[in-house]
Amino acid sequence: MAARGLFLTFEGGDGSGKSTQVALLTEWLAEQGRTVVHAREPGGTELGAELREIILHRRGYIAPRAEALLYAADRAHNIATVVRPALESGHIVIQDRYLDSSVAYQGAGRVLDPAEVRNVSLWATEGLLPDLTVLLDLDIETGRARLDDSRTRYDRLEAEAAEFHHRVREAYLGLASAEPGRFLVLDATESVDTLAARIRDRVSELLA
Ligand code: TMP
Repeated sequence: MAARGLFLTFEGGDGSGKSTQVALLTEWLAEQGRTVVHAREPGGTELGAELREIILHRRGYIAPRAEALLYAADRAHNIATVVRPALESGHIVIQDRYLDSSVAYQGAGRVLDPAEVRNVSLWATEGLLPDLTVLLDLDIETGRARLDDSRTRYDRLEAEAAEFHHRVREAYLGLASAEPGRFLVLDATESVDTLAARIRDRVSELLA
């Protein structure tokens, strides 16, 4: 288990505003004199960047179980080399996506067994769970419309049909209701400032 730091993760579909909220929370924590370490999956380490390129941009078919294991490999390395050392030093780690992404995208999206996918991640990370997971919930169409118009190509996951992303969204909501103590579910159509305030309130409680 995490020793002294705080492990905060952000989850949600494409265009749900995770990056904006990560930036605002980081700014606020820095003002409180806290050291924040940023992490992300996939691709938060040098090895992870290579894996990310394969997972998201490799041409051609990747079998669902292979995809799940590639995400788990990225996760194992990220947790071992970035997140655990930071937590053991007492820092706050804010991470963009974690194991709930795998359960939602590979479990519900690719239709693998969600419990098995979760167990693979727990093995990869020696059982590390976040102290808080912020889920920015947004309907698929709004998320899609928010994606950068200048984008010339979608990655392998973004390119999946709407039905895939609907399953992902439902899976996220199911995960949140199964673990209400760990999740903070927010309606991502609320204003940036309102969302930021709600996240700050919850993090303040954890820091108290
Ligand atoms: P990102 O663009 O938010 O960094 O995420 C890349 C894509 O990878 C996004 O579509 C969600 C997907 N993903 C999974 O399918 N499984 C996972 O375990 C993670 C971390 C991300």
